[in-house]
Amino acid sequence: MQIRKYNKLSDESKLMKMIEDEEGWDYANETLAEKYKVALATSITYVAFHEDVLCGFSRSLNDFGAYIYVCDLLVMSACRGRDIGRKLMECIYQDYPDQVVYVMSDVDGYYENVGYKRIGSIFEVPCQKLVSHD
Ligand SMILES: CC(C)(COP(=O)(O)OP(=O)(O)OC[C@H]1O[C@@H](n2cnc3c(N)ncnc32)[C@H](O)[C@@H]1OP(=O)(O)O)[C@@H](O)C(=O)NCCC(=O)NCCS
Repeated sequence: MQIRKYNKLSDESKLMKMIEDEEGWDYANETLAEKYKVALATSITYVAFHEDVLCGFSRSLNDFGAYIYVCDLLVMSACRGRDIGRKLMECIYQDYPDQVVYVMSDVDGYYENVGYKRIGSIFEVPCQKLVSHD
């Protein structure tokens, strides 16, 4: 298995295809696909390959060189349970040793399993039209 930084030219179509095939991931749909391609190229994105098949990726945001927020982590269903998720996370803190890495979790059980510490929580701000300024 090989993990390296994302390359738009060689990886974009493979990565978008993997997302398209993944249940519950909407980023490859008509509305989001073009925006997500830009996000992949402008974020800290890593891809994992198993025998030339793109089987996982992570996408993270860099906050002024001090913090990194992992937004997306996905391993293809057929390749799960082989430490690919763990290695995709490891290469972030290895490549950015001076930054604190946080993950925006959708699967708390996984991050607890790999020994991450829970800090705070995330809130969704309600839609502006629901907010009264009176
Ligand atoms: C979560 C995900 C990235 C894990 O990838 P993976 O390559 O299968 O994980 P690893 O092989 O590195 O697993 C490491 C450990 O976590 C455990 N684990 C894996 N998925 C788990 C889950 N969903 N819940 C709890 N534990 C999990 C593994 O059993 C393993 O434990 P062990 O070391 O005791 O054997 C993968 O299941 C996935 O892509 N899920 C769908 C997308 C998703 O939910 N992404 C996270 C959104 S923030």
